[in-house]
Amino acid sequence: MNTLAGRDILSMADFTAAEIHALLDLARQYKQGQTSPMAPGRVLGLLFTKASTRTRVSFSVAMMRLGGQVLDLNPGVIQMGRGEPLPDTARVLDRYLDVLAMRTFAQADVVAFAEWADMPVINALTDQEHPCQVLADLLTVQECFGDLAGVKMAYLGDGNNVSHSLLLGCALVGMSLTVATPPHHPPTAEILQKAQALASHGTNIIHTNDPESAVRNAQILYTDVWASMGQEAENQERIPRFQPYQINETLLQKADPQAIVLHCLPAHRGEEISEAVLEGTQSRVWDQAENRLHAQQALLAQVLGLV
Ligand code: CP
Ligand code: NVA
Repeated sequence: MNTLAGRDILSMADFTAAEIHALLDLARQYKQGQTSPMAPGRVLGLLFTKASTRTRVSFSVAMMRLGGQVLDLNPGVIQMGRGEPLPDTARVLDRYLDVLAMRTFAQADVVAFAEWADMPVINALTDQEHPCQVLADLLTVQECFGDLAGVKMAYLGDGNNVSHSLLLGCALVGMSLTVATPPHHPPTAEILQKAQALASHGTNIIHTNDPESAVRNAQILYTDVWASMGQEAENQERIPRFQPYQINETLLQKADPQAIVLHCLPAHRGEEISEAVLEGTQSRVWDQAENRLHAQQALLAQVLGLV
C-alpha cells in the first residue's frame, strides 16, 4: 500500500521503515525495467538555490520516465531571486505544479514552503538533510548485502546534511552507523538523539572523534565533502583538521576485508577520499549515483499517487 501519496518529504524521519522498504522495492523494479503507471500532464518543479548535477538531472529524468514534465525554477529566473516572499511564491507555484523538489540552505525554508503549498514538497538537500541521497544509498546497500538490517556503516568526515540523513535512515532500517568527525564538526545533538531514539535494540548509532575505531569491522565506509555548499570559504582551514578522516587505502585496510566504499559525490580526490579508493575495486559510487534515478522515480510515483 502506498502511504506517501500527497505527502511532503522533508526529512528522512518522515518515513517509517516499512515506507522505506516499499520505496526500495519499487525502485528496484524500475531499475530492472518495469514500466510504471504514467503521469502525463503532471509537472515537477525544481526550485534549487544551490548547484546540483545528480539531484537535478536524476529528478528530471525520473519525472520524464513517468511521462511527466519538469520546470527548472532556480531563483535567478523567478521573482523569489529578487525578493518575492517565500509564502507568496509557494502559494502561486502550488496553483501550477503537481510536486516540487527544493534545494536550499535553511531547513526552515522547505518546512515553510511545505506549509504554504498543498502539493508534495520534497527536500532535495538543505544544510540539515539530504533524504533523497540516503534513499539511493540504502538501495545500493541492499544491492550489495541483500539486506539492510544488521549491516555496519562508518561515515567519516563532516557532521553535515548527508551524515544527518544517514543517521536517521540507518536507525530506521536497523543498520548500525558510527559517525566519526573532528571534534568541532559533529552532527547536531538533536539529530543524533533522534536517530538513537529511532534505533531498535541492537542497532548502534554512535558518534566518535576516532576514525580508526569507527572503521573497525565496518562493511561500508562512507564520506562526503569536508566543506559543504555555503562553507567554501572554510575549505583551507578545514583540510588539516579533517585529514585523519580521509578514506584512503590505509584506513580501508582496517575495515572489513569485503567492505564497500560510498560517496554521495561530487568527490574531492586527495581530500575526503583518495583517488585509489574512489576508483578502486571496493568503490560502488557510480552504482550509488545511478540509484538516485531509480529511488527518486519510486518516490515521485508514490507522492504523486501513481502506484
Ligand atoms: N549527491 C548530490 O546530491 O549531488 P548533486 O549536488 O550533484 O545533486
Ligand atoms: N554535504 C554536501 C553534499 C553535496 C551533495 C553539500 O551540502 O554540499
